[in-house]
Amino acid sequence: MAHHTDSDREPAGELAIRTLAMPADTNPAGDIFGGWVLAQMDVAGGIIARGVAKGRVATVAVDGMTFHLPVFVGDVVCCYGAVTRVGRTSMAIHVETWALRGGGGERVLVTEGVFTYVAIGDDRRPRIIDGASD
Ligand SMILES: CC(C)(COP(=O)(O)OP(=O)(O)OC[C@H]1O[C@@H](n2cnc3c(N)ncnc32)[C@H](O)[C@@H]1OP(=O)(O)O)[C@@H](O)C(=O)NCCC(=O)NCCS
Repeated sequence: MAHHTDSDREPAGELAIRTLAMPADTNPAGDIFGGWVLAQMDVAGGIIARGVAKGRVATVAVDGMTFHLPVFVGDVVCCYGAVTRVGRTSMAIHVETWALRGGGGERVLVTEGVFTYVAIGDDRRPRIIDGASD
């Protein structure tokens, strides 16, 4: 398993979420539950996607979801997203989560994945994204 520190790479994209990992978000072993982290990533990507789609979006797929390192109670959890593809009705957003350990100096890449969102209308059906290239 690769370990990523400050010296390996910088966060890519825009900071969409910054929050604190709380005791309520733990798994039975006491570390942060991966599903909670994934939910933060989905919200972060969704905020960016909503801006691109200029309206409602739905998550249709998550690819390459990778948990590099555990997240601990007290970490400041930062989700960054970058749009990598805009299609006719869908878009792909690469989302990375970085943890500031104990709120202190160390910053580590903990998770990443590619979230695909579809612009949808009031009928919940796909809607063409304004300015889409294909
Ligand atoms: C999102 C949804 C409306 C799409 O409907 P659909 O009938 O599958 O739509 P289409 O087949 O026309 O595909 C729409 C776009 O999504 C893309 N897409 C569909 N499935 C995909 C997948 N698994 N991975 C990547 N892209 C996908 C298509 O390529 C297409 O993109 P494009 O228009 O940019 O070329 C429908 O799948 C849905 O409602 N899903 C549930 C969404 C949801 O509730 N998410 C929260 C889960 S709790």
